[in-house]
Amino acid sequence: MYKGIVLAGGSGTRLYPATRAVSKQLLVVYDKPMIYYPIATLMLAGITEILVITTPQDQEAYRALLGDGSQWGLKFSYIAQPRPEGLAQAFTLGREFLDGAPAALTLGDNLFFGHGFTGLLREATSRQDLATVFLYQVSDPQRYGVAEFDAQGDICRVVEKPPSPPSRWAVTGLYFFGPEVTEVAAGVEKSARGELEITEVINHYIRAKRIRGIKMGRGYAWLDTGTPEALLQASQFVGTIESRQGVKIACLEEIAYNLELVDRDELRRMLRDKQDIPYYKYVLDLIEAGGPVPLV
Ligand code: DAU
Repeated sequence: MYKGIVLAGGSGTRLYPATRAVSKQLLVVYDKPMIYYPIATLMLAGITEILVITTPQDQEAYRALLGDGSQWGLKFSYIAQPRPEGLAQAFTLGREFLDGAPAALTLGDNLFFGHGFTGLLREATSRQDLATVFLYQVSDPQRYGVAEFDAQGDICRVVEKPPSPPSRWAVTGLYFFGPEVTEVAAGVEKSARGELEITEVINHYIRAKRIRGIKMGRGYAWLDTGTPEALLQASQFVGTIESRQGVKIACLEEIAYNLELVDRDELRRMLRDKQDIPYYKYVLDLIEAGGPVPLV
């Protein structure tokens, strides 16, 4: 059974002064905190045990927002990352939490959306013997980890922020690895820029021929929220879809209800005094309307 890790630390300096006193992943993306989106991703992958990695100073705020997770049928654990020393550290910090389970890591500032996304996630968790990364075509690959492909079209290397990218396929911030990932991550050495790079973990799996890259096509949105422009675009994207369709993206109560992690009575009880708040009214209307809406 996969366990999930949300990496929500980092210094967020590109968003200063907005993130001087507030952690980036607590900032709002349209109508909910940014961290709701990666949590929704893990839930849709069928994961209920989640480790939230934060900076030491922000941990209390995350606990105040997310609690123990039981309101969504989840179980949250928390751990602090003393310094932002790289994404691969998530697995060494998370070793005890994982306790031999396979791991899904998602970055706290990555937002995914698209028809059939749940199916892709379930495909990723269906093969514990293979690692899975998700690839997305971008116009500015030099900002990301980038995939290189061999003549057969298989992924043969990933490079972090290459000045001359080998392709336009960025490696998104959502990774599935087997239980051995804690050992693999422990073997990674710091890069020239002083970080324990996730790309080194991925390259290990590529060399072992135990990875697949799933390309997310045009029908998907993958947004990160690390700059003021990207944050605004993400809010506008979510706002546009939500107001047009009248359905919410990454509404954790809705997902928990549809996955039968919480039932109607529990939700009613929890939201009893919140019906004047539009976000919760949406959930109440939904559960009063009838059975679960299929997740697509
Ligand atoms: O968004 C996808 C990209 O994320 C990948 O394509 C890259 O391969 C990967 O390295 C990463 O690149 P970024 O430049 O976005 O990484 P950044 O340092 O901004 O960290 C991503 C998030 O993780 C950010 O919200 C802060 C958090 N973080 C980062 C580091 C380095 C931590 O919580 N701890 C850390 O040590």
